Amino acid sequence: MAPQTALFDRLSTRTSGNGRLRGLFGRTRSRKIVLLACLSTAVLLLLYLGTYRDPLSGWSLGTMSFGILRGAGRLRSVCSPEEYAAGNWLYRPYHTRPGPLTKTYDTNSTILEEGDDDPFTENPAILRNMTKSQDIFNFTRFDGCASSREYFWHLAADSHKQFDRFPGPTEWEWVPGGRCKSPSGLRDWNREDVVKEFAEGGGWLLVGDSVTENHFFSLSCLLYPHVIGFPDYNKLTGMYDRSWAQHLYLNPDSPILKDINLPSGFNLSSTPLVTFRRVDLLWSKSELETMHKELHPEFYDTTSSEGFSLFGEERTWSIPPKEYLDIFYKPLPEGNYATMVVSTAGHWTTNLFRGYHLDEKNKKHDGPPIGYDALIGFYNEVMSRWAEDVQHRLTIEKSNDVSHAQRLGRIWSTKDSAGNRRRDKKVLVRAYLPGHEDCHKKRSPCEEIQPFQWNFWNWPIIWKFNEVFKNLLSVRSEHPDVIYLPIDRPGRLRPDAHSTGDCLHIMSGAGVLEGWSHYIWHFITREI
Ligand SMILES: *[C@@H]1O[C@H](CO)[C@@H](O)[C@H](O)[C@H]1NC(C)=O
Ligand SMILES: *[C@@H]1O[C@H](CO)[C@@H](O)[C@H](O)[C@H]1NC(C)=O
Ligand SMILES: *[C@@H]1O[C@H](CO)[C@@H](O)[C@H](O)[C@H]1NC(C)=O
Ligand SMILES: *[C@@H]1O[C@H](CO)[C@@H](O)[C@H](O)[C@H]1NC(C)=O
Repeated sequence: MAPQTALFDRLSTRTSGNGRLRGLFGRTRSRKIVLLACLSTAVLLLLYLGTYRDPLSGWSLGTMSFGILRGAGRLRSVCSPEEYAAGNWLYRPYHTRPGPLTKTYDTNSTILEEGDDDPFTENPAILRNMTKSQDIFNFTRFDGCASSREYFWHLAADSHKQFDRFPGPTEWEWVPGGRCKSPSGLRDWNREDVVKEFAEGGGWLLVGDSVTENHFFSLSCLLYPHVIGFPDYNKLTGMYDRSWAQHLYLNPDSPILKDINLPSGFNLSSTPLVTFRRVDLLWSKSELETMHKELHPEFYDTTSSEGFSLFGEERTWSIPPKEYLDIFYKPLPEGNYATMVVSTAGHWTTNLFRGYHLDEKNKKHDGPPIGYDALIGFYNEVMSRWAEDVQHRLTIEKSNDVSHAQRLGRIWSTKDSAGNRRRDKKVLVRAYLPGHEDCHKKRSPCEEIQPFQWNFWNWPIIWKFNEVFKNLLSVRSEHPDVIYLPIDRPGRLRPDAHSTGDCLHIMSGAGVLEGWSHYIWHFITREI
């Protein structure tokens, strides 16, 4: 890694991801013309949309989970999660674009089709063969990663045997579908803006299993060097626990600090911009046991000598919703979160939930139904309660906020004392992403989601777990602050983007995890 001072020197001359685009507008004679053109395009687009149906994705206004026309005054949506996910991966050699989230498909950057002769072959500055782990930064265009936990594992650069995969997985760009790909669609990623908005308007609390931890690591690279990771795993002696929270703090040496209007009470060394908490099941094990006994007494009524037990021996990390919602609501300087992103399903297997395990031996048992369909039934029941409880907490906190301000004789406002617009707290449920079979033999994205053959774990039915949340949260008015984000499709098309050791975890830098950050940032700043 380059020393940070040198990096910051480079930063001042280097433009961020959308520099090319800004340059384009700067050169235009009159910005007004551009503005007018944009406006009329928008009007035309709106008129056109009522009848529009995307031939590829099948997207139309009617398929959106929240329409622009529904709910007057919320004329906001420019790139819905469904449209975002309805795109495709485009071959774009890593050296023809400045980073994993840059948009080249509507600019005149070098376009190479897969299989084309690469005119850059002879250029010695373009790295073709990976020989050391550090080379991954050449391919991913990350300046580094702030998190230090399992560093090269997260980048899939920890095994010499698989160096020959690179630069392969870093050569693809996600082109979203629907209106997202228009200039006024998906917001261009700009890490400096993201950092500023996290500090001023509130940051993210990521709650989920090890795949969410992958997401956290990727974000620590996307925002590097403006953030620093905590804990510093390089300095740890002894074991660490996966239940520990991990944080990203603002880097006090970052040159963008002077442009940030920090909320009062914000402490550079203790107020996180982003936090990850390992929570595999969204409920604690004991809560699940209690609810199971209450909802399914039939499992416990039996006169059989061995009692029913919901869980087996498999380890898991999970805490009660109350505990992570308390973190979400921590006031400054301890907390400054506006968005909580949760995802679960991966650990909802009949190995962990051993009581639901169905095999040849207990196939003909005469007790209540077990197996995956029954487990999903239970999942539906407890996630329905989860959505109620979480929305309830958000509603209560919001009304407390208002009445507190009224008691103080202040008009309730979404601005803090530093004048920043505070973001409304939202909880986003990111659709879970299953793994791919035989992933290390796959060296490029696929165009369609591939069917499963071997039925590993619960991968083939992850979609059913996702449907549960989709259905539970389909009526926005019932859970206005808890929103389902079906943005799993880009990842489902990337069997080539897994870690070196397994086919579930996703490497940082291939565009999958980065795409989640990109879309979620767009969503909370543009769609709601
Ligand atoms: C791409 O290049 C062509 C020809 O040089 C030009 O007419 C067009 O405006 C360019 N498009 C963009 C988006 O820069
Ligand atoms: C790798 O990336 C660096 C910085 O972007 C660049 O200077 C260098 O020429 C690249 N190529 C090789 C072969 O290291
Ligand atoms: C680099 O990798 C390519 C493709 O895998 C291979 O054909 C070539 O021989 C390698 N070159 C060197 C110098 O190892
Ligand atoms: C900020 O947090 C650090 C670490 O918790 C603490 O030592 C310091 O006193 C705090 N600064 C202020 C101004 O509260």
